[in-house]
Amino acid sequence: MARDTLSVTDNRTGATYEIPISDGTVRAIDFRQITTGGDDFGLMVYDPAFTNTASCRSAVTYIDGDRGVLEYRGYPIEQLAEQATFLETAYLLLYGELPTRAELDQWTHDITYHTYVHENIKKFMEGFQYDAHPMGMLVGTVAALSTFYTDAKHVDDPRSREIQTGRLIAKMPTIAAFAYRHSRGLPYVYPDNDLSYTGNFLSMLWKMTEPKYRPDPALERAVDVLFILHADHEQNCSTNAMRAVGSSRADPFSATAAAAAALYGPLHGGANEAVLRMLTEIGDRKNVPEFVKRVKAGEGRLMGFGHRVYKNYDPRATIIKRAADEVFQVTGRNPLLDIALELERIALQDDYFMQHKLYPNVDFYSGIMYQAMGFPVDMFPVLFAIPRTVGWLAQWREMVQDPEQKIARPRQVFTGPARRDFVPIEKRNSRRKDAA
Ligand SMILES: CC(C)(COP(=O)(O)OP(=O)(O)OC[C@H]1O[C@@H](n2cnc3c(N)ncnc32)[C@H](O)[C@@H]1OP(=O)(O)O)[C@@H](O)C(=O)NCCC(=O)NCCS
Repeated sequence: MARDTLSVTDNRTGATYEIPISDGTVRAIDFRQITTGGDDFGLMVYDPAFTNTASCRSAVTYIDGDRGVLEYRGYPIEQLAEQATFLETAYLLLYGELPTRAELDQWTHDITYHTYVHENIKKFMEGFQYDAHPMGMLVGTVAALSTFYTDAKHVDDPRSREIQTGRLIAKMPTIAAFAYRHSRGLPYVYPDNDLSYTGNFLSMLWKMTEPKYRPDPALERAVDVLFILHADHEQNCSTNAMRAVGSSRADPFSATAAAAAALYGPLHGGANEAVLRMLTEIGDRKNVPEFVKRVKAGEGRLMGFGHRVYKNYDPRATIIKRAADEVFQVTGRNPLLDIALELERIALQDDYFMQHKLYPNVDFYSGIMYQAMGFPVDMFPVLFAIPRTVGWLAQWREMVQDPEQKIARPRQVFTGPARRDFVPIEKRNSRRKDAA
């Protein structure tokens, strides 16, 4: 009978080892027993950028990149985007099941009644430079929340985790909107708890002199759908940061700030901005074939195409494309859309892109849509951070309760000099590698 093991022969010693396989993985620590004897530390596995390492067991989000599948707690993203609200999806991600009507009402009430931030947070935000990047403001302000909620340090207390989860999800849109208003030199708008989660966010962003802001239902729903699509994406760079910082038992505000900082990077939260820049540079549909030729010749990449995990159409891109049509009916068509559609049409029938399994990803259409709604590009990563906070928290809560997890502490392959004796300063010659 076939055994779920891996037989490994160490050709240095001739010894054979039997390594158990479970869930399609072997445990890296099982390789430590493979030594050449003496003071040999044992074999390690080397995996820069974790391209083939599972760092945790998780029941939150499932991705099958080859088939273009994304599921939250087993529910396909297409069905959630079609039928659920963002707060309903947030509940699902955090608690593992869809809420009943009563549970959803309670949850919605709990979140919408914690949207206010301490006045000192408002004052704190007012201290940023007039042209501060809203994502920088968000990262700094979320970190500062830990100084307002000192009870957050009790990460092993389930009640404390619950309270901080609610606070973060409720206050993220408020901080994001304050950051936006600050960058525009506009007065901050306080939350309106009669509105939906996304409706209130739009009110805090766009409200001017009207006594009550009424969001356009189509835009409110479009933002809700975008929030659903961005709520979690298993072990991506920012989630990994959340788990790594949280593993030291730092409070969740500090860990969320670290995760948001990871999202600030252009390779993670900034790709849709790069798509807009690329479409603007192309300028016209007729320039698309020439641009594609340049990409194939190795002069740059087709932004918004390709994904580390998806080697098929990113399921989120299909949904966004549909949502974009609804947004354009309200806002008018973004002229960049025609260039994007032509680019997609040409690329999808081109051998290079087919062979490399390059399909549009979530960022290909989201930027065009955000721009049509009136968001400046600086706000794009902020719009990503609000819903992703739910995913970060769901993953953090799973991590702190996982008995197998410890403080995250990778190993290294040391490539520096072997032991040598200290050289007194008068006997040193400059040997810095970057010295002229
Ligand atoms: C997302 C991305 C970083 C994934 O990268 P990855 O899985 O590490 O894949 P690699 O960078 O190793 O690329 C594999 C091959 O496909 C090519 N390729 C990947 N993405 C490409 C793109 N967008 N345009 C043109 N060629 C691309 C690479 O040149 C490479 O070709 P080669 O094997 O002939 O050298 C990459 O596809 C990319 O840079 N896309 C554009 C930026 C983007 O949209 N990012 C948002 C992701 S949500």
